[in-house]
Amino acid sequence: MSGLLQAENLYRFFHAGDDETLALQGVSLAIQGGEVVAVTGPSGSGKSTLLACLAGLDEPDGGMVRVDGERLSRRSEEARARVRSRRIGMLFQQANLVGHLSVTDNVALVRRLAGSSTTPAWRDEVLECCGLTARAHARPGQLSGGELARAGLAVALANDPKVLLADEPTGELDTVTARRVLDLLHDRAAEGAAVLIVTHSPEVAAISDREIRLRDGRVQA
Ligand SMILES: Nc1ncnc2c1ncn2[C@@H]1O[C@H](COP(=O)(O)OP(=O)(O)OP(=O)(O)O)[C@@H](O)[C@H]1O
Ligand SMILES: [Mg+2]
Repeated sequence: MSGLLQAENLYRFFHAGDDETLALQGVSLAIQGGEVVAVTGPSGSGKSTLLACLAGLDEPDGGMVRVDGERLSRRSEEARARVRSRRIGMLFQQANLVGHLSVTDNVALVRRLAGSSTTPAWRDEVLECCGLTARAHARPGQLSGGELARAGLAVALANDPKVLLADEPTGELDTVTARRVLDLLHDRAAEGAAVLIVTHSPEVAAISDREIRLRDGRVQA
């Protein structure tokens, strides 16, 4: 199996007392550059757990993740963070923003962590494309829900990631903002990124190139 983003036989178990949750039970996938793939499935089927493993935020109990040929699993936290900061953009339900920094400074921070500088032209472009020019100097607490979602997207795009992972990116957005966020994700795929979108929305799944359905931690045939 090859791909810009690869998962081989991922397992993830959670234990609480005598309870064991088998969140991922042998999930394999490969996403090519240029592809937008929707991950769907009922609540509790393992979608967010899968995304956390793919981002290297969580370590699977078994199996392996590779990003652009580089192994992400079973490496130090530091090594995973390095791969993540250079190659992966994440758009999660919880905002990925630092609260005391402005939108602009949040974007600049992500770029700095990726080892890139932020020119004024580049910064203006990313803010413009996310519709945030007027709110560039606002802090996250001063933004509306839709603005916050778009600021999250600006941050997810800030390191020019080869792999974009989004968990319910349109969940709580109005249709216009949702459309804009989706368009931006599809634009990134058109530029060669591998894009994976977790969604409950049939519309979002319908406009993706492919759908991966999870059920009880397994990919459904
Ligand atoms: N940190 C954790 N500790 C214990 N159980 C967990 C943990 N994280 C997830 N789980 C359990 O693992 C299973 C998969 O959870 P996950 O969050 O991946 O589901 P999901 O498909 O994203 O659901 P939703 O659509 O509701 O967001 C669930 O049964 C959940 O309760
Ligand atoms: Mg989830």
